[in-house]
Amino acid sequence: MADWHTIIRERDFPMIEQAECDGRPVIYLDNAATTQCARPVLWALENYWRSQHANVYRGVYCLSRRAEAAVEETRQICAEFLGAASAGEIVFTGGATQSANLLADAFALTELKPGDLVLSTEMEHHSNLLPWREACRRTGAELALVPVTEEGELDLDALDRLLERRPKLLAVCAVSNVLGTVNPLREIADRAHAAGCAVAVDAAQAMRCCLPGVRELDCDFLYFSSHKVMGPTGVGVLYGSEAWLERLTPPRTGGGMVSAIREDTVLYERGPLKFEAGTPNLAGIAGLGAALEYLQAVGRRRIAKREKALLQYAEKRLRELPGLRILGAPKQRAGVLSFVAPPLQAYDIAMLLDSQGIAVRSGSHCAIPLHRRLGLSGSVRVSPAFYNTAEELDALTVALRRSLEGAKKAGVPVGENARG
Ligand code: ALA
Repeated sequence: MADWHTIIRERDFPMIEQAECDGRPVIYLDNAATTQCARPVLWALENYWRSQHANVYRGVYCLSRRAEAAVEETRQICAEFLGAASAGEIVFTGGATQSANLLADAFALTELKPGDLVLSTEMEHHSNLLPWREACRRTGAELALVPVTEEGELDLDALDRLLERRPKLLAVCAVSNVLGTVNPLREIADRAHAAGCAVAVDAAQAMRCCLPGVRELDCDFLYFSSHKVMGPTGVGVLYGSEAWLERLTPPRTGGGMVSAIREDTVLYERGPLKFEAGTPNLAGIAGLGAALEYLQAVGRRRIAKREKALLQYAEKRLRELPGLRILGAPKQRAGVLSFVAPPLQAYDIAMLLDSQGIAVRSGSHCAIPLHRRLGLSGSVRVSPAFYNTAEELDALTVALRRSLEGAKKAGVPVGENARG
């Protein structure tokens, strides 16, 4: 009998099974950027457009109530998936980037003043760095970055020193989108909270690797995107504890978030609606709900175990290739593996792989400060999901070997004095 992952790959991921580009089959290994939609997600999207499409929180008629119930059902699914205390802690956004921006803007409005300190880290995606940099610029607060060690871990001694300055908030990723480093979030949250510092977690790369619940992590905020959990693009979540959502001022205003207006005062809705001005991405929310239910049904532990095994296999195979250097050596790695093969450029390697039907990401992966810390301008990133196979990683290894040997034959000194 076939393995569970073979069965669901064939049954649930038409895009993976039939992927082709320019008439060639494609091996898709860029799941850290976007995962493929599971078939139940496609059904949910179709169902939404066929039988549910109407605006929410604005109509008393049946269709509007149906659409509203569907949104609230997904809010509940998200709360359960994240281990939140209630659906009232789940704000729908356009994705992790929008969540971070929404939070940083709200935090700037409500909490920050000149001289305050905010922390982020050297390993953040620009999405969890620039919103905080902007928030600090606008308010006169200071942003400091927790440095990364040679192994690609956060330097927790340096974090402790920064925490002595009583920062207001630490924005940190659960998993690095370049190195795959799994950060010790609970330990970080404990240290931060002891210093009176709130913790905001970018979980974009961590949602399939069995992240503990938000109460177990003891974070104040957490965000992720639907399109990295087999759902559609353009939708995501900002989790905020009830107390924090109550306390923060909404930076965006409009319809659907007002409870009363007088000439010079306005009373906002309580809970998540306060942060959801305008009509939300209703179809996207339906798709996200279906995606999370799908992951639950397949089994989150099973998925995490399978992806870990694939990543370890990828690492083992890539280490066989002379001239190729894998970035970082964290104690725990999840989701992604990045490498360089100097003097070849990351872009050229990705193009050579593309010419052999293999899709990987190249460049800075929206993490220029981290690449600068590593002395690099870019890298190539491989990110298998549970629907990928060991055979596909073998094919990647063969294609890479061919590319590196081809470059050597052409006189490029691959692997000699390799530093990157
Ligand atoms: N955030 C996505 C990535 O790292 C797009 O590739």
